[in-house]
Amino acid sequence: MQLFLDTTDTAVLADLAKTGLVDGVTTNPTLIAKSGRPMLEVIKEIAGLVDGPVSAEAVATDAETMIKEGEKLAAIATNIVVKLPLTFEGLKAVQHFSANGIMTNVTLCFSANQALLAAKSGATFISPFVGRLDDHGAVGMDLIQEIRTVYDNYEFDTEILVASARTTDHVKTAALYGADCVTLPPQVFKDLVKHPLTDRGLEAFLADWAKTGQSIL
Ligand code: G3P
Repeated sequence: MQLFLDTTDTAVLADLAKTGLVDGVTTNPTLIAKSGRPMLEVIKEIAGLVDGPVSAEAVATDAETMIKEGEKLAAIATNIVVKLPLTFEGLKAVQHFSANGIMTNVTLCFSANQALLAAKSGATFISPFVGRLDDHGAVGMDLIQEIRTVYDNYEFDTEILVASARTTDHVKTAALYGADCVTLPPQVFKDLVKHPLTDRGLEAFLADWAKTGQSIL
């Protein structure tokens, strides 16, 4: 399963990329606004920090303008993925980019039917927003299971990118349900490596090792 960072904070991204475990990055207009930087500049910097896919979102609401925006974004770097909303206009743009070999990520997915339309349109990634479904009183991860079943039934290649993931439990469940990728806020990515028993065990091992007075090197 691929792990993406959901961030426009390039300092944090550069630091976490050193783990060798960041497979890509996702952004959205809210995260661009949060960066306080010009979108094209920040996307270019991000695309240079990771080899994997970097999602950059179009903001128009009609297909024709979305296509123009997407073409401009895709020209930034070869690893750019054009992110488009789950509307009929967005899906028309997905079909255009799919026919032209440009990667797409269909965002704001909240149902299996929406995911079906995105796959039929040739989307590279579908982004179901699990945390926002949880906020809405549903169980967001149930949608991942449904989409996995639909895509497997018809052998769609569209990759399931679990978005709006807020907890390490979302990551575990995404892996158990066979999601292809999950995008994470940096803090959740950092939390993946943590377990109190790991800390306690390491502390005990190091204390016992110190008592031996030995050195491996
Ligand atoms: O990738 C989509 C994500 O940024 C949305 O997350 O926490 O705003 O629902 P959130």
